[in-house]
Amino acid sequence: MGLSLHISIVPVILMVVSLQVWLPLGCLQEERAALLQLKDSLNYPNGTSLPSWTKGDAHCCYWESVECSYTGRVTELYLGGVRNGELRDWYLNASLFLPFQELITLYLADNQMAGWVENKGVYQPFKMNKLEHLDLGYNRLNNSILSYLDWFSSLKTLDISYNRLEGLIDLKECPSNLEALYLSGKNITKVVALGGPTNLSALYLNNITAYGSSFQTLLQSLGAFPNLTTLGLGDNDLRGRILGDAFLNLKNLELLDLSYNTLNSSNIFQTIRIMTSLKTLRLWDCSLNGQLPTGLCDLNHLEDLDISYNDLSGFLPPCLANLTSLQQLDLSSNHLKIPMSLSPLYNL
Ligand SMILES: *[C@@H]1O[C@H](CO)[C@@H](O)[C@H](O)[C@H]1NC(C)=O
Ligand SMILES: *[C@@H]1O[C@H](CO)[C@@H](O)[C@H](O)[C@H]1NC(C)=O
Ligand SMILES: *[C@@H]1O[C@H](CO)[C@@H](O)[C@H](O)[C@H]1NC(C)=O
Ligand SMILES: *[C@@H]1O[C@H](CO)[C@@H](O)[C@H](O)[C@H]1NC(C)=O
Ligand SMILES: *[C@@H]1O[C@H](CO)[C@@H](O)[C@H](O)[C@H]1NC(C)=O
Ligand SMILES: *[C@@H]1O[C@H](CO)[C@@H](O)[C@H](O)[C@H]1NC(C)=O
Ligand SMILES: *[C@@H]1O[C@H](CO)[C@@H](O)[C@H](O)[C@H]1NC(C)=O
Ligand SMILES: *[C@@H]1O[C@H](CO)[C@@H](O)[C@H](O)[C@H]1NC(C)=O
Ligand SMILES: *[C@@H]1O[C@H](CO)[C@@H](O)[C@H](O)[C@H]1NC(C)=O
Repeated sequence: MGLSLHISIVPVILMVVSLQVWLPLGCLQEERAALLQLKDSLNYPNGTSLPSWTKGDAHCCYWESVECSYTGRVTELYLGGVRNGELRDWYLNASLFLPFQELITLYLADNQMAGWVENKGVYQPFKMNKLEHLDLGYNRLNNSILSYLDWFSSLKTLDISYNRLEGLIDLKECPSNLEALYLSGKNITKVVALGGPTNLSALYLNNITAYGSSFQTLLQSLGAFPNLTTLGLGDNDLRGRILGDAFLNLKNLELLDLSYNTLNSSNIFQTIRIMTSLKTLRLWDCSLNGQLPTGLCDLNHLEDLDISYNDLSGFLPPCLANLTSLQQLDLSSNHLKIPMSLSPLYNL
């Protein structure tokens, strides 16, 4: 009895062990075929990228830029900058992605992508329900990309920065659970999120090329995102203006990056001093001059302050000693003097 029991258990254990070891090596035939089609599409008509993706090699989980789950399903594809630069615009056939039902991360940045291929002129309902991170930055997409965002119902991070979007950005097709949106580097004048991702926590609007009043309109748009904790507004042309009221409604903001703007010290700190939820403030290279205004000391949750590469002078205000949470302070490339009374900044 005992002997036969042992004999029957051992093969079962061996089978389970060998299954677990074997599965990650191969990958689903249909996913492998789709990867090869994707390679052909990225290389169309005569590119030479992804040479290691070959028909004869069944172990596609070991191919460059491919990650799989332990069950051998493709979960991550890192295909940024794959398409050769001299090739023409790339139109992606979204149907190629249908076999990747477990795909969580898809990077397609910097591939001259200009849009999707329409399949015989009919709108095909297309879903990638598991996809959480989609990077389409540095391509040639225009505003029409916005109407396809409902394909990705689980999306948490979307990067469509540095494309050809412009004017009004209507995010109503964008999944409501989106957490981070990268919209940098465009002629954007307004963002509308009604029916879309109003619970966004991170928004990047760096290097927006709009000027003057259209930039004020853009800032008003921020009122649509009351739960923002991270806001990137670096590399814009603020030209010393006061930031709008909508800005002050961002009661949960923890990180504000205004680096590489032209700011006016007295104006900017009038606004910022009210944003007491801030933990990180970046004012790198902002043409700030004169003394550092004491309004800064109202930011009593501040942990990380970067005001390097400005033209600030005089003594640091003694009230900085009240910023007991401060852990990092970058004052380099200014003309600031540190008074003895600031010795209590012992957390730094
Ligand atoms: C692709 O074809 C074009 C035009 O025929 C040629 O100029 C280019 O060098 C080719 N590229 C590659 C990678 O073979
Ligand atoms: C946007 O891109 C799509 C796909 O390339 C194109 O069909 C459409 O004409 C473009 N729209 C504009 C306004 O350029
Ligand atoms: C897109 O890909 C699907 C699946 O491979 C294929 O059936 C379809 O013909 C392709 N569409 C175009 C326009 O190439
Ligand atoms: C923004 O718009 C201006 C004028 O319409 C145009 O010259 C410029 O190329 C655009 N910039 C981008 C990044 O689209
Ligand atoms: C903001 O977050 C709070 C707390 O998680 C939530 O109750 C509220 O609905 C959120 N607001 C939006 C617009 O999603
Ligand atoms: C808003 O987002 C936060 C964290 O990103 C999450 O905990 C919360 O449940 C969300 N609230 C709603 C109403 O979606
Ligand atoms: C900002 O945009 C300009 C023009 O669109 C570009 O030349 C520059 O490199 C961008 N800056 C950054 C930091 O990406
Ligand atoms: C900065 O703002 C103050 C107060 O609004 C104003 O008096 C001053 O002229 C501004 N300085 C510059 C350089 O714009
Ligand atoms: C610190 O804050 C308290 C209360 O706001 C204030 O009375 C005190 O003067 C501040 N300390 C310094 C050194 O400014």
